Amino acid sequence: MRIKVISLFPEIIEAYFSASIMKRAVEKGLISYELVNIRDYAFDRHRKCDDEVFGGGPGMLMKPEPLDRALAAAGSPELRTIYVTPSGRLFNQVMALDFAHEENLILLCGRYEGIDQRIIDTRVTDLVSIGDYVLSSGEIAAMVVIDAVYRLIPGVISHESLSEESFSSGLLEYPQYTRPAKYDNLIVPEVLVNGNHAAIERWRLKASLIKTLAYRPELLQNIDLTSELGRLLKEVIDEGGGHGPHTADSSGTNSN
Ligand code: ADE
Repeated sequence: MRIKVISLFPEIIEAYFSASIMKRAVEKGLISYELVNIRDYAFDRHRKCDDEVFGGGPGMLMKPEPLDRALAAAGSPELRTIYVTPSGRLFNQVMALDFAHEENLILLCGRYEGIDQRIIDTRVTDLVSIGDYVLSSGEIAAMVVIDAVYRLIPGVISHESLSEESFSSGLLEYPQYTRPAKYDNLIVPEVLVNGNHAAIERWRLKASLIKTLAYRPELLQNIDLTSELGRLLKEVIDEGGGHGPHTADSSGTNSN
């Protein structure tokens, strides 16, 4: 996948592409990236990229000309062009999967009060918000989107890691433990250390249901209560589950 990020502060993003899993994905040739400085497309004497809002109002807006030139040079709108903004569609794993199928992605980062609407109308294909809060800039939001997307590209991380994690099953991920099995007086649930894989699988599914019920009950709305998962959910509810990750109970599900 080729990723282009259009920003007034590309230096904020550079470090992200130069470390850890992303660095390896770039070295392996799975990802290539280009950071475009919008100011390089502002041709007036002061290379001005913002201006006051027509009709009045606080703050400044990003001007259309530099954005238009930068986006056109990047290949927008023929290539998928995501503008990260708090007034976009709420980002989720399904959208991340959709974006992961693209050969090219352009991410546009806003600053100040946002960007001129004409750029949204002519160059942007997707408006994406990463949550119901306002950040001071789009760079961090763009990195959030990129991070959720690139790790889904085959070869970036292991297939097993993806299929086990939160949201891939529609549930939150079960609690996990590593050595030592006893730390101070905190003991790893017995079922996880005794090697019975069927019991471990059932414990994990039940623990996922308990956690999802506690933190994100709306994710359970569409579960068919007559299915096996539905029956397990009913069991969790009947047992009074859903109070957080440390309430896993009975059938060996006690976490301490
Ligand atoms: N820019 C500022 N806040 C944002 C948000 N919540 N999501 C996406 N982009 C943003």
